[in-house]
Amino acid sequence: MAGLSVATDIVHPLLTPAANTQIFDGSALPWTRVAGLLEAARWTTSRWNRQPWRFLVGRKGDRTFHELHRALTPTNRTTARGAGTLILALRQTRSVEGGPLDGTEYELGLAVARLSVQARATGWRIAQLGGFRRRPLMAAFEVPADFEPFVILAVGRATADISCALPPRPRLPLAEIAFTGRWGTTHRRRAS
Ligand SMILES: Cc1cc2nc3c(=O)[nH]c(=O)nc-3n(C[C@H](O)[C@H](O)[C@H](O)COP(=O)(O)O)c2cc1C
Repeated sequence: MAGLSVATDIVHPLLTPAANTQIFDGSALPWTRVAGLLEAARWTTSRWNRQPWRFLVGRKGDRTFHELHRALTPTNRTTARGAGTLILALRQTRSVEGGPLDGTEYELGLAVARLSVQARATGWRIAQLGGFRRRPLMAAFEVPADFEPFVILAVGRATADISCALPPRPRLPLAEIAFTGRWGTTHRRRAS
């Protein structure tokens, strides 16, 4: 299928598509690993170093996990089964002076990308789940009004059970997303 082949000669193995991203085997992430994910996110760059990300971490068996799990849509609850850790990622929407903060989705996304690479490098996987009810979480965790719950990250170990394999997830080819000279003109790969 078009858009499925990965140029493994030019991309780092950590950034190749992960199989079974959303099926987990029930393993619990040790706290030191969770801390590693958060530390990777903490060192993200942001405009004026405003650091507009926050994380609420739930580990299977605790109240935070229970509330996050309960807020997921039924389909996403199925996706998150077998995940030992759920992390709610939130972004700041207003400054302390009350003015709107633009573009903080971008910075939260950068933080989640770093967290995801850290997870993969240490043998864990992330499923990003945007389908969940925000309001109950605002109340349950007394989230300040200038923070918005954005995505729940289900973290676990990918199952080895190939009967759980997800269908292929193609991407647009490079020629359709990266241009040079003018819009629509593709860079030709050369030897150097
Ligand atoms: C912000 C965001 C929200 C997402 N929300 C959901 C979701 O609610 N449920 C889900 O199954 N996948 C969700 N995804 C995962 C994408 O749909 C998924 O990345 C896409 O299907 C491609 O799969 P792949 O990244 O594993 O190749 C979300 C991804 C992002 C970045």
